[in-house]
Amino acid sequence: MARALGPQALERTRGVRVAELERFHRNILDKAMKKQSLKIGEEARILVNNTLGKMSLGSSFSVEKNDGTKVSEFSIKLADLSQMFCVAQIFHKPLEKVGISLLKKQIMDVSHKFEELLENILVKYEGKMDNHQSTEFMDALMAAYRDDNAEYKITRNHIKALLAELFFGAGESSSSTTRWAMGEIFNNPRIFEKLRKEIDSVVGNTRLIQESDLPKLPYLQAVVKESLRLHPVGAVLPREFTQDCNIGGFYIHEGTSLVINAYSIMRDPDIWEDPNEFKPERFLTASRSGQEDEKKEQTLKFLPFGAGRRGCPGLNLGYTLVETTIGVMVQCFDWEIEGDKVNMEEGSGLRFFLDLAHPLKCTPIPRIIKS
Ligand code: HEM
Repeated sequence: MARALGPQALERTRGVRVAELERFHRNILDKAMKKQSLKIGEEARILVNNTLGKMSLGSSFSVEKNDGTKVSEFSIKLADLSQMFCVAQIFHKPLEKVGISLLKKQIMDVSHKFEELLENILVKYEGKMDNHQSTEFMDALMAAYRDDNAEYKITRNHIKALLAELFFGAGESSSSTTRWAMGEIFNNPRIFEKLRKEIDSVVGNTRLIQESDLPKLPYLQAVVKESLRLHPVGAVLPREFTQDCNIGGFYIHEGTSLVINAYSIMRDPDIWEDPNEFKPERFLTASRSGQEDEKKEQTLKFLPFGAGRRGCPGLNLGYTLVETTIGVMVQCFDWEIEGDKVNMEEGSGLRFFLDLAHPLKCTPIPRIIKS
């Protein structure tokens, strides 16, 4: 996984992301010309899944045959079911009665269908392995799968599980982050204008925003960070103690479940000024100073990608995908929302993913550039 998501691998797959971002732009432009509304979360999820599919599986992943849309449908179902299952496991006893086994069955049904789709794509990949349409990521996995003497034997199921984890981990979190951030941007026209001004000054109006522009767009980066602080998709981070230990005078047994409340930490009034307000500017000052102590402190109070060995391996790609997607939507379109404000109510119920309670439906209008 680290190999597929490291800086060098990301550099080598940049062309795929450019092509998919352009496709995303054309798709929104098409809807804008037809005056059609769209759901931002759905469009973003398909963009992320198409991008990941192409990055990992090359041309065997067919955007034209809607592989990205099919993967998206499965990951939505799995996200819903599995988070209920995780919560059910943590609060084991009281929830046993409400049917963990039924939940397990539903998860298995969806997982089998997802596996069928991944198996078909894998067979297509194997058929094309000789004609330069392969990817570094899959070639490494396939080599380990075929090598009987490999130190770690990889099975076909391992490969499919890894792909499912990639789509599942990335698609939901990136699209949900995009949706939350766009909701905040729509509700704060001053921020929308400031973002657009920054993008115009760096990118101009003759080309689309691209990844290499991002280091020169600190305000865009700050908007995404502030949105992640207020609306972390991984609001709580579950862990389990692998051995008995003492922490702060408390003796904790091996096997004990621990839930870190990242949501509360990132809204703690003792460490954040005006914790419930959307103020991207706070991240501009933090990134300017860049002192080591400050960085360490940030790591402890800013946890949208989790932390430690199970922290998100897709952090860099996640930032890149979300920032370029928002960049295109602000650079190229004006937006009409339903009503005066986006309803930022949080989804309720037994959930690990923090999502908006209502879909973010809006209508794009092609931007008229004043010369
Ligand atoms: C803005 C986008 C994203 C956010 C907010 C996000 C957030 C998270 C969080 C909170 C976790 C749990 C970390 C923990 O428990 O400490 C996680 C895990 C994970 N994420 Fe992300 N993620 C994002 C994008 C991505 C992308 C683009 C990928 C892959 C291409 C990815 C792959 C994964 C994987 C594989 C895991 C599981 C890691 C493990 O269990 O060892 N994520 N992510």
